Amino acid sequence: MVHQDVELKRGLRDVYFESTESSFVIGDVGRLIYRGYDIHDLAENASFEEVVHLMMVGHLPNKSELEQFDNTLRQSRSIPNEVIQVIDHIKNGHPMDVLRTAVSSLAAFESDVDDTAHDATLRKGMKITAQVPTIVAAHHRIRSGLSPIDPDTSLSHAANFLYMLSGDKPDQDTARLMDKDLIVHLDHGSNASSFAARVTASTLADVHGAIVTGISTLKGPLHGGAAEGVMKMALDIGEVDNVQSYLEGKRERKERIMGFGHAVYRAEDPRARHLREGSRLLAEKKGDPKWFQILSKVEEHMRPYAERGICVNVDFWAGSVYYLLGIPEDLFISIFAVARVPGYVVQILEQQDKNMLIRPQIRYDGPMDLKFIPIDQRS
Ligand code: CMC
Repeated sequence: MVHQDVELKRGLRDVYFESTESSFVIGDVGRLIYRGYDIHDLAENASFEEVVHLMMVGHLPNKSELEQFDNTLRQSRSIPNEVIQVIDHIKNGHPMDVLRTAVSSLAAFESDVDDTAHDATLRKGMKITAQVPTIVAAHHRIRSGLSPIDPDTSLSHAANFLYMLSGDKPDQDTARLMDKDLIVHLDHGSNASSFAARVTASTLADVHGAIVTGISTLKGPLHGGAAEGVMKMALDIGEVDNVQSYLEGKRERKERIMGFGHAVYRAEDPRARHLREGSRLLAEKKGDPKWFQILSKVEEHMRPYAERGICVNVDFWAGSVYYLLGIPEDLFISIFAVARVPGYVVQILEQQDKNMLIRPQIRYDGPMDLKFIPIDQRS
């Protein structure tokens, strides 16, 4: 029953609702640009902190700008004891559920929570960026029966995150791999969770609320949850020789293969390259090549799908990197959140700077002109 003669753009595919200067996903050729710089250039040559400055402030920092910016991030990492208590009370929840609740509770400790001026959002956004790894690590330690580890300001953002999770300071290669992982996950055009964060920001709600919206949206298996699914698949497959029969079974049941396909990319996701290489190197270093071999074989068997534009995406290799770093699977999305939260801040700033309430239309297909029947006369 259609009452309105309007064309639907389901899932808002191919709808441009705003313009951005932060990131550009070029789907047909598989390119990703951050403020004019190719993601490969940044992943190979920049630190995560430099890229966060580029994205939040608008240009690559010089040495003294980076020092000041990085110092602010390092000094902002700790979280109030009350938030640690909140985490303790809900420690049995999924890490993403705990994260969104903890970020929400951080708002209670800001005196200017409703200030949506550019400088206020940037300051609070940098602080949340610095605090999110502390929340993720504190929750993981508390649920494991261990005490949270205080942030170490002598370590980079990536190295400190790994240190707070495990208690061991990572070597340079491992810290750099996590750094790269955070860089390639930072921003990605109008992805579902950044769009959701923008919708919240467009009502002039506060930055904490908009980030909670983003984190909640990221959790879904069609978005941030795929890396967890990929590693589950690798574990289910178990041996390289099982890959073909496993994929045939999936195909017969018309089930999706996690880590393949993308709403925008019709070529290989450019972010996958860095994590594939990271996974290969880690497998070599740890003397545990099995998962890299299984996933390489899955990639090989999925090649025919590329003709339909279903290619490998960033999550395919991310999962194996985290697994080889000894990180439990239910924390994989939280790592994506550690990287993507500054991306939300960038898009929330853009939204607030030239705000327009995001309020699309939805076509009504329901019944009309029904007559109200009092409750005692209804069958
Ligand atoms: N495995 C098998 N078939 C697939 C897959 C897949 N991973 N992805 C899409 N297809 C098929 C789908 O079944 C459909 O086939 P048909 O036309 O015969 O019904 C066709 O491709 C189009 O599917 P769609 O859902 O309309 O395409 P989409 O562009 O909206 O899908 C996607 C994007 C990410 C939801 C989807 O590719 C998917 O579910 N992938 C698996 C989950 C995943 O890896 N997500 C991580 C995305 S990257 C991280 C991020 O940026 O969030």
